Amino acid sequence: MAQLEQIERELISESKIRSRVRELGQEISRDFDGETVILVGLLKGSVVFLADLAREITVPCHMDFMSVTSYGNDTESSGEVRFLKDLDEDINGKNVLIVEDIIDTGYTLREVVKVLSARNPKTLKICTLLNKASRRLVEIPVAYNGFDIPDAFVIGYGLDYAQRYRNLKYIGILKLIEK
Ligand code: PRP
Repeated sequence: MAQLEQIERELISESKIRSRVRELGQEISRDFDGETVILVGLLKGSVVFLADLAREITVPCHMDFMSVTSYGNDTESSGEVRFLKDLDEDINGKNVLIVEDIIDTGYTLREVVKVLSARNPKTLKICTLLNKASRRLVEIPVAYNGFDIPDAFVIGYGLDYAQRYRNLKYIGILKLIEK
C-alpha cells in the first residue's frame, strides 16, 4: 500500500514562532548576563531554531553541534541512542545550553545530558522549541520551552518527514494517507 502525506493544517504560525523565539532569547540573555554560553544543537532538527534563537541572544555565545540517532523504527524510539558526531569544543567549566526542536519520549536528551554532564560543564540547561509532554517516558528538566503541543505529527521549521519540510517557515500538522 502506498502512503501519501499532506499538510493538514498550520499549528504555529511564522509570526508566533518569531515572537516566542524573541522572548526565549531575551530570557536566556537575562539569565546568562555577564556570561558566555555554548549553544549545543542536536542535528538536524534544531538547526533552524538555533539559528534564529542565537540572533535573539545578546550575551556572547558559541555554537556547537552533536548528531545522535535513536535505534528503532521510524515512529517509535527504542530508547537506545547512538552518537554520530561529538562536540568540537571542550565544555568543562562552561555554560552549556542544549537547543532542541522537540522533546518527545525524552530518550534522546536523557542520553545527551548523561554524556555532557560527565564532562563537568559549569551549567547544563535545555531549551526546546516544542514540548510533547503527553509522550514523555523519562523525566527531562526543561529550562526554556517554546510551546507545549498535542501528540500530532508535526513538521516544518527544522522538523522533517522523510527529510522533507524542514524549510517550512511555520509548524504544521502532517496527515498520512493510505492509498
Ligand atoms: C527528533 C528530535 C529530537 C528527538 C526527540 O530527532 O530532533 O532529537 O527526535 O525524540 P525523543 O524525545 O523521543 O528522543 P530525529 O531523530 O527525528 O532526528 P532529526 O533531528 O535529524 O530530524
